[in-house]
Amino acid sequence: MRADPISLFPASAGHDDLYRVVKGDSIDLLARLPDESVDLVFADPPYHLSNGGFTCKGGKRASVNKGGWDASRGLATDHEFQLAWLREAQRALKPTGTLWVSGTQHVIFSIGFALQELGYHLLNTVTWYKPNAAPNLACRFFTHSTELVIWAAPQRSKKLLHTFNYRQMKAENGGKQMRDVWNLDYQVPEPDGEQVVWSLPTPAKREKVLGSHPTQKPLSLLDRIVRCSTEPGALVVDPFSGSGTTGVAAVAAGRRYIGFEREKEYVELSRLRIHAAAQTAAPRDAVGAA
Ligand SMILES: C[S@@+](CC[C@H](N)C(=O)[O-])C[C@H]1O[C@@H](n2cnc3c(N)ncnc32)[C@H](O)[C@@H]1O
Repeated sequence: MRADPISLFPASAGHDDLYRVVKGDSIDLLARLPDESVDLVFADPPYHLSNGGFTCKGGKRASVNKGGWDASRGLATDHEFQLAWLREAQRALKPTGTLWVSGTQHVIFSIGFALQELGYHLLNTVTWYKPNAAPNLACRFFTHSTELVIWAAPQRSKKLLHTFNYRQMKAENGGKQMRDVWNLDYQVPEPDGEQVVWSLPTPAKREKVLGSHPTQKPLSLLDRIVRCSTEPGALVVDPFSGSGTTGVAAVAAGRRYIGFEREKEYVELSRLRIHAAAQTAAPRDAVGAA
């Protein structure tokens, strides 16, 4: 029998076999996962955007610099980086598994091209609408208020093998097929009414009580991604864990999680947040986990 991928990484105090957050480089750590052992990879990789620009935060001009991890090393090197981690993720994913990658226009085209180069099967490009996006300071183009989230299966195959909880998503959408524009400030549509857009706001204050990350994703986004594309007990991996939002969504929904993160402070924040979520998650037997 093959080793459980979670058992390949040492547990920190307070952890159990539900999750691990491992400090280190995502490409090296992804390489340690066995072939075809992971059900879902969600990644929010560096945007390579921290190069001295400005944005608007709380109505004031603020630097866009997020940290050294977000600096660009030039277009070609940045693209090689995306190819390298996507190649390892592809190897580690089960044929029934899928990959989700979020990004803005600064990285998403490189990621989309890398996915095509590697032979992934593109399933959707979801547009996540942010109703409370920061205003545009330059006034030289439209305000950015969306982020793209690519959904892909690891291989092209005639028969689609990936997990998609279609009926559950349709039921949560008032009996209508769910579309690829997500507005998570969500109203369920009336059966005879118009479709609604999924508007997910940026993370709520309650999601930052244990600490925050400059590019923290809202829990509602990860909750939908985890539940629509995995079954209870599934193994979810995030190679760029940040504040651990993917892990929080995974354990809250009865899935298991491995996160990789190179910065110590975010490893600790991920562990804190996921530990808190694991304390309040339904017992695993109740959600049918493996
Ligand atoms: C965009 S943030 C992820 C935010 C996360 N989705 C959340 O909700 O908090 C990317 C994270 O990846 C980490 N990172 C960047 N390059 C990395 C690498 N090569 N290996 C591991 N972690 C890396 C950064 O430190 C940063 O915390």
